Amino acid sequence: MPPVTLSRFLIEEERNKKVISADLRFLVEIVSRACKAISIAIGKGGIADVLGQAGSDNIQGEAQKKLDVISNEILLEANEWGGHLAAMASEEMEDPHLIPHRYPKGEYLLVFDPLDGSSNIDVNISVGTIFSVLRCPEGVPAVDDKVFLQPGTQQVCAGFAVYGPTTLLVLTFGDGVQCFTLDREFGHFVLTQENMRIPEDTKEFAINMSNQRFWEPPVQRYVEELLAGKDGPRGKDFNMRWVASMVADVFRILTRGGVFMYPIDAKMKDKGGKLRLMYEANPMAMIVEQAGGAASTGRERILDIRPSALHQRVPVILGSKNEVERVARYHAE
Ligand code: AHG
Ligand code: MN
Ligand code: MN
Repeated sequence: MPPVTLSRFLIEEERNKKVISADLRFLVEIVSRACKAISIAIGKGGIADVLGQAGSDNIQGEAQKKLDVISNEILLEANEWGGHLAAMASEEMEDPHLIPHRYPKGEYLLVFDPLDGSSNIDVNISVGTIFSVLRCPEGVPAVDDKVFLQPGTQQVCAGFAVYGPTTLLVLTFGDGVQCFTLDREFGHFVLTQENMRIPEDTKEFAINMSNQRFWEPPVQRYVEELLAGKDGPRGKDFNMRWVASMVADVFRILTRGGVFMYPIDAKMKDKGGKLRLMYEANPMAMIVEQAGGAASTGRERILDIRPSALHQRVPVILGSKNEVERVARYHAE
């Protein structure tokens, strides 16, 4: 069997399974091309002067890295002209980016975190891109940030790329999760893992332990029990990993299970959490659920949240089902 390229996979999803429309197929092709371009830019590193600070802040008040800005521009330019989108929104822009008048408009909305794990760029650790696709509601008077405020259950596609030792693209259309690997010689993505499944149980967890003293009691209790290992109530030893690039941590969980937590803590109470709902939590929650895992804030299912703002932040607990359910139970008790 010759390898199945992303293009072939998408055409067959459209033609045989009728899972996607021609426009959605085109959209994913375009996003994958943009991810390839971002992967190339990242791979140049110090040779092309892409590392370091951009000298500006984004809407979240975070200092932008040059590659945050470059990746955002690559995605905007790639997706403007195709006629498949009504608008785009990004971590790096306060307001939605409308399609210029000279181009046709389409039915989809694209939301992205152009470069996830920015703190890892300059130290040569995996980073990525996260994206979510929604339908633009019909008959709206104007395309503004309100059209994006749909719960994660409404996503028609979610995906992320990891720029690591290999460049990967993980995708779901609500019909299972597939992983594609970039073949650098041929320049295309090839299907390398079909129907990824997250084991329901795990012995691995991911959390930034430096925030421990700020966590709420349910998370304190959960992590304390994990750390107690064999001698504690869980009766087994747990291992810990924290890459600080959500894309890499989630990919590990898709591969061998685990639980990832960025809970709310006392120093970010007013912000609602660290990770952003529309372009981090929702797409990752859809992918994780599609792979048999779960995703919760501790108090509710992430995909059920009715967003109130484009850059809204939420607590995130996702991964192996039984662990996520346990953390949610501790919150309820
Ligand atoms: P971004 O680079 O898009 O701002 O996102 C970084 C996120 C996420 O990828 C990661 O899990 C988390 O922030 C790391 O946070 P800490 O540095 O607080 O560990
Ligand atoms: Mn991010
Ligand atoms: Mn980012």
